[in-house]
Amino acid sequence: MRAIQIDRFGTPEVLDLVETPRPAPGPGEVLVRTVASGINPVDDKTREGAIGEGAPPLPTTLGWELAGVVVDGGDSPLEAGERVIAMSHQLGTTRGTWADLVALPAEAVAVAPRAVSLVEAATLPLPGLTALQTLDWLAVSAGERLLIAGAAGAVGGLALQIARARGVEVDALVSRDAQAGFAREHGAGLVSTDPAAFRGGGYHAVFDTFGAFVTDAVADGGRYASIATQAGPVPDLSARGVRTTVHQVREDGAGLAELARLVDDGALRPRVHATYGLQEIRAAHERFREGGLAGKIVVTF
Ligand SMILES: NC(=O)c1ccc[n+]([C@@H]2O[C@H](COP(=O)([O-])OP(=O)(O)OC[C@H]3O[C@@H](n4cnc5c(N)ncnc54)[C@H](OP(=O)(O)O)[C@@H]3O)[C@@H](O)[C@H]2O)c1
Repeated sequence: MRAIQIDRFGTPEVLDLVETPRPAPGPGEVLVRTVASGINPVDDKTREGAIGEGAPPLPTTLGWELAGVVVDGGDSPLEAGERVIAMSHQLGTTRGTWADLVALPAEAVAVAPRAVSLVEAATLPLPGLTALQTLDWLAVSAGERLLIAGAAGAVGGLALQIARARGVEVDALVSRDAQAGFAREHGAGLVSTDPAAFRGGGYHAVFDTFGAFVTDAVADGGRYASIATQAGPVPDLSARGVRTTVHQVREDGAGLAELARLVDDGALRPRVHATYGLQEIRAAHERFREGGLAGKIVVTF
């Protein structure tokens, strides 16, 4: 079968389309034929060797998410032919999703949303689970006020929509005008490119997707979650009674099922900026690195 692997770190030129053995699903695993997968910042960092100590041994198959079709459901309730989505913790397991066939624990897989294509569904797993799990940690509830830094990015854009679906009042720090339009269309109240606009905002919770560390926006006794691992820990705010975390995403089939339900209910809209064929993986990574995206780069199999 085909897979995208690296055997050294570097520019997109190190990405190779290679033939690898078909995986044999173990007990409790499901075998999925990949139809599409999104590119995420972690794939870019892994390829260029920016992960540091947690880097996988080489060669490695890249990719953290997929939308596809079940080939063998094993002893799970999933039947062959079912459309599914899944996240694989590539760094922790070395089980990359950029391969024709992927064997995954059944509990990391969920039925795909019916309302969208598998290409659109492929944009959900990694950023969607990150958004959902971080919002759950923030425990932000209907009527409370949330600030999202990076509210039009892959994670932030989904977090904005999920939070609004939960009745949360959301304000948005974004990087450019095009992103401000997205945030407003999706129900953000105050939208600004200037972090100072949120100073003293008294937010119950802050969801920081890029290391903005807008700690003066959170109310005393509030919650502050970052996902920007590379930016380091959130400053200690315990003197103000603010709980802080740097959330690390986990595989979570139940969370994926919740994301699929939100899509089918019309509360969550996946965004595809562009699609590339598997043979165009280097060009896809180049486009990802250029930035200025309005949605995800999806690789189709
Ligand atoms: N800890 C975890 O488990 C976990 C999971 C998923 C992702 N992450 C990390 O979280 C980060 C976000 O991931 P993502 O997939 O959402 O990336 P993304 O799609 O690039 O989103 C980041 C957003 O932040 C915006 N931004 C960056 N710098 C800004 C600034 N100075 N002011 C205002 N906005 C700014 C970006 O705008 P532009 O598009 O204009 O640059 C973009 O909209 C990445 O570093 C990723 O590695 C961590």
